[in-house]
Amino acid sequence: MAKAIINGSRSKGVIHPNIYGHFSEHLGRCIYNGIYVGEGSDIPNVNGMRTDVVEALKKMGIPLLRWPGGCFADTYHWRDGIGPKESRKKIVNTNWGGVTEDNSFGTHEFLELCRQLGCEPYISGNVGSGTVQEFSDWVEYCNMGGQSPMAEERRRNGQDAPWNVKYWGIGNEAWGCGGNMRPEFYADLCRQYATYMRNYDSQHQIYKIASGANVEDYRWTKVVMEQAGHCVDAVSLHYYTRPRTADWNDKGPATGFPLSEYYSTLANTLYMEELVENHSRIIRQYQGDRQVGLCVDEWGTWFDVEPGANPGFLYQQNTMRDALVAAINLNIFNNHCDTVVMANIAQLVNVLQAVILTEGKSMLLTPTYHVFEMYQGHQGAKQLESYIGAALAGEGENQVPNLHLSASESQSGLLVTVANLSAQDSAELDCALTGLGKVSQIQGRVLTGEPGAFNDFGSEEAVKPSPLAAELTEDGFKATLPACSVAAFTLR
Ligand code: AHR
Repeated sequence: MAKAIINGSRSKGVIHPNIYGHFSEHLGRCIYNGIYVGEGSDIPNVNGMRTDVVEALKKMGIPLLRWPGGCFADTYHWRDGIGPKESRKKIVNTNWGGVTEDNSFGTHEFLELCRQLGCEPYISGNVGSGTVQEFSDWVEYCNMGGQSPMAEERRRNGQDAPWNVKYWGIGNEAWGCGGNMRPEFYADLCRQYATYMRNYDSQHQIYKIASGANVEDYRWTKVVMEQAGHCVDAVSLHYYTRPRTADWNDKGPATGFPLSEYYSTLANTLYMEELVENHSRIIRQYQGDRQVGLCVDEWGTWFDVEPGANPGFLYQQNTMRDALVAAINLNIFNNHCDTVVMANIAQLVNVLQAVILTEGKSMLLTPTYHVFEMYQGHQGAKQLESYIGAALAGEGENQVPNLHLSASESQSGLLVTVANLSAQDSAELDCALTGLGKVSQIQGRVLTGEPGAFNDFGSEEAVKPSPLAAELTEDGFKATLPACSVAAFTLR
């Protein structure tokens, strides 16, 4: 029996909805085919956006979407993607597969997608190969309501009102594909770019996000915070989970993996907590009397591409193992909501740890989608401190705690989300609630299956949530969590 305690009188604050954010890059079949099919497509669409994908994302709860990259962002010149489609420049996507990018999905299309989804846009600007003027013009094009050259150009292209885009990334992975810079050099550029990213409306202040560290590059965060922290609202962090950390050319398959890779993936996922705590500590040390947030603006699993897929398209299947990775990361972000202000899983459709896969007209929801849907109630809720007495699962250096939990309270009640990481053993959970009002109703849901279980075209519902029995006790509730599962309990 595992004992957990949820303490209603201790909280780190409100879980920012943007912790449940997503990322869409011009990469493989994420934007084209996955989201955007064009107005003339026989796949049902509204203004070119796939209706099935948009509807599914709305149901899951998508607060924010990052675009256009990733590495693509630092090669992207936004003017290539505005104006009449037939005259838009055709370029080569040099980062991802060397395919032709016809720029039919640009600023107007991205912001139309966000309108349909009802989510906040987050645009990553080009620092690696762009100019300060180009970046500054993009902000003006999107946000200037009055008269100005950029506002007039936007109107000529059919958009009268400004979009008031709040979230702007100052480059992406400046230490790597975004320019191979040293942190000192990037910090200076960041100061310069941030200076010319203007606010055009006092009601809509923009939020500037510095390109942050790769995994445990704490020096990057330190230098950027020390030298440019005063110019930005947040600093990012990128950390992808792989089973075999040593070699990027041998990441292991997304399906049909051995149990050792199941546990090593989960063990590597738990490392996110240490990363978040250490980067947050550095941010706090240098932020002065302002609050600078941490945006984990790329996270998720990264496996070998599916056999036969273009290696540059990063297309991978998604199993119960991915569902557990999502549950652990989201629990960690919830429990560190005092510093983690945003997180974006990579990527939205057909790329890496996608919540949706498409094939022609067909679409399926991955196990990761279901975790986001089950965790939706945490968005904007008050995080509650929790403690859990977990046992160990796995073997050797890949031992992990069997249970991982987060909890929050909102007007809809109390939401407790728990993952059982053990591939073989179910777990009896006895959860006590303290410092909370009387609870008289409980509803449980669970997502479970073999670690390698996945949804495929033709068997789209092999993995989906089902009800889970739970019983109220004198001081809380009890439930049995199946092996390899993610459970969500709503109490009122
Ligand atoms: O998500 C795929 C790539 O991973 C992104 O383009 C880049 O930022 C990261 O290295």
